[in-house]
Amino acid sequence: MNAIDKISDTDRYARCVQTSKRVRWDIDDDVIRGRRFDAGHKFLPDGLSLAGAFTTLSADEKRFVSQIQGRTYANVFGLVERFINAKVLELSHDHWFGDQVALEALVRFSDEELKHQALFRRIDMMVGEVLPDGYRFDIDPNAVAHSVLGKSTWAVLALTLDIELFTQLHYRQSIEPDTELSELFKDVFLYHWKEESQHAILDELEWVRHDAGLTAQQREQAVDEFIDLVRAVDGILQAQAKSDAGYFATTCGRVVDEAEARTIAAAFLKAYRWQYIQSGAQHPQFGKVLSKLITDSQGQRIQAALATLQ
Ligand SMILES: [Fe+2]
Ligand SMILES: [Fe+2]
Repeated sequence: MNAIDKISDTDRYARCVQTSKRVRWDIDDDVIRGRRFDAGHKFLPDGLSLAGAFTTLSADEKRFVSQIQGRTYANVFGLVERFINAKVLELSHDHWFGDQVALEALVRFSDEELKHQALFRRIDMMVGEVLPDGYRFDIDPNAVAHSVLGKSTWAVLALTLDIELFTQLHYRQSIEPDTELSELFKDVFLYHWKEESQHAILDELEWVRHDAGLTAQQREQAVDEFIDLVRAVDGILQAQAKSDAGYFATTCGRVVDEAEARTIAAAFLKAYRWQYIQSGAQHPQFGKVLSKLITDSQGQRIQAALATLQ
């Protein structure tokens, strides 16, 4: 690393600290502001819920689908932020007796992820107050975190950057004019994005820093572990798509036959793969950072694995 890169990295950590202080928000005072959800509104925008893929459903039923997906959105974020926070705390160790600004940036990152988990627990509860009983999210964030953190730091940081970049795209989707979208859910996207923007910069800094200490062989193995992690995420999405489609079928107020139930489950999975895998993997910044760290053949391996999740 040359002197100019070194200065700019230090500066980037410092800017993350500054921005983190400037945008800092409170769950009640800024995001929720005494509001409740209204089941007359969509919770996720069509571009995320992939409303168009639910071809057999009426407009009202598509709105219900967006609400189920909104609740799952809160739960999935609560889940991934458990392992992201643990990894950030672990990485902060590298800075204990080094760059104190980098350490502060990671401590703030961790503090924000704890707050986000609390926000998403609240959102899950608040959505539960306006939707029919029977929704389930049975995946344990601690069990997932244990399994994810069993993989190499390189692989976990790759997945983390992917996730934190797609929150930016999700925010952009939510600000597109849509008069039926819940103002409260829009604010969840807005406030989450405000802090996630710094996280994505820090993920990149930490990933590149960590990568510099790896041998080619360690990186080769880490690429396979990243693919394993993406497949594990997909396993979670498959289970939740099935669960959410079943919940829809039993609570939508009409008979859904087996053939239609299958198309609804397939549409849920398509939407979840878009939200939690493809929208990050296709993010230009993810491709830019990843391609600098890996060989062409490693890139092809990742692309081939992603192509199986369509
Ligand atoms: Fe977050
Ligand atoms: Fe984050």
